[in-house]
Amino acid sequence: MSETLERWGSRRAFILAVTGAAVGLGNIWRFPYMTGENGGAVFLLLYVVFVLILGLPIMMAEILVGRAGRRGPMHALAHLARQAGVSPHWRWLGLFGALTVFFILSFYSVVSGWSIEYLIESVNGNFSGRTPDEIGASFDAFLADPLRMTFNHTLFMLLTMSVVAAGISGGLERLNNLLMPLLYILLVVLVGYAVTTDGFGTAMAWLFTPDLEAITLSVVLNAMGHAFFTLAVGACALMAYGAYMPDHQSLPRAVAAVAVLDVAVALLAGIAIFSVVFSQGMDPAEGPGLMFVTLPIAFSDLPGGPLWLGVFFLLLLLATWTSSINLAEPLVAILTDAGLKRGKAAALIGSSVWLVGLLSVFSFSSLSEVKWLAGMNFFELVTTVPLEFFLPIGGLLIAIFAAWIMPANTAMRSLDAGPGGFRLWRGLVRYVSIPLVVIVLLSALW
Ligand code: PHE
Repeated sequence: MSETLERWGSRRAFILAVTGAAVGLGNIWRFPYMTGENGGAVFLLLYVVFVLILGLPIMMAEILVGRAGRRGPMHALAHLARQAGVSPHWRWLGLFGALTVFFILSFYSVVSGWSIEYLIESVNGNFSGRTPDEIGASFDAFLADPLRMTFNHTLFMLLTMSVVAAGISGGLERLNNLLMPLLYILLVVLVGYAVTTDGFGTAMAWLFTPDLEAITLSVVLNAMGHAFFTLAVGACALMAYGAYMPDHQSLPRAVAAVAVLDVAVALLAGIAIFSVVFSQGMDPAEGPGLMFVTLPIAFSDLPGGPLWLGVFFLLLLLATWTSSINLAEPLVAILTDAGLKRGKAAALIGSSVWLVGLLSVFSFSSLSEVKWLAGMNFFELVTTVPLEFFLPIGGLLIAIFAAWIMPANTAMRSLDAGPGGFRLWRGLVRYVSIPLVVIVLLSALW
């Protein structure tokens, strides 16, 4: 497989593409409910620390490998490994990443389907004039209806795969980037509304005054997994984007911009959602339904609420769409590299992921009591293990490859941050990020 000559049209295009992959369900759906389940401020604190000392340096490592390899993940890894005089078996890391995104995509599509349902419901005005209890009950009723969920899951999978099959993700990205500022504006408006609720003070205290004694191994593991997930790091998916990164663009600067945009969305969503939680006397640890219950309540209090709720879900859908394309791309690339036509590859991947996704759909009804591992049903399993174990393991191996195995001059050129910046990055990865991931994973598996 020879080097790709394709490049993103501009520096901005690269940042926007990576932001498109990063901002998604992780920020608006998963961050709030994980924070709720993990005691608030301690989780937020650990998550931010992990973004800074693990997520960012390893994200640089991942993109750096793709950029130096200028090929799809498996070929890039094999090529660079040969160049470094080590075994080309490193390529299997690309396959491990593909396995990870396969399982992530299977639930991602199901939950994005929830957004489709909520988009339709809000446009139909089905939330206006409803009490918070009724809004909560209608979410439970929706979860108990596998047919409706399957319909939305199917629709989302078709949306994702048609863009991937046609190879037009660039077009969607442009649309996304045109509309994303509106998502930020809506979130800021929501925070503005949150300030006026009685729950705001409690929410701020709960989010920003960490009680360090509440740190447990499970909170640490959850926060680490979430840092990888939200930045889209550890599955070699961003490696593929790195292959198209133009020369002469500083990687640390680009990555820092993405992280700021990504964390900002999570924080704004968190403040808005927890203000509603506390003003309504709800349970912060309510779980995956948290966003779907709190946001309709918040919007129904605002002028023009139903319309804006619809706009919000539309934007969320767009954000998850660009993330799911990034999740699907490496899977499809493996098949096209093996000689399959793009359309066929997308159909094959799409239908297999869809099928596995059905197990998540039924985890809320007939399969809810079927436990797969450690008392978890399928949905709980796929929203936990790939995120908390596979992504960090993948990230760890990528980091080892970039900081210990690749020849320094190749890595330095690809990082594009000068010799000082390179030494700083490599020192951080070698002596902080790598040992930290190892320690957390080992303590969790012990
Ligand atoms: N970062 C995305 C989100 O927060 C999810 C994702 C993970 C996308 C891994 C690509 C790769 O929703």
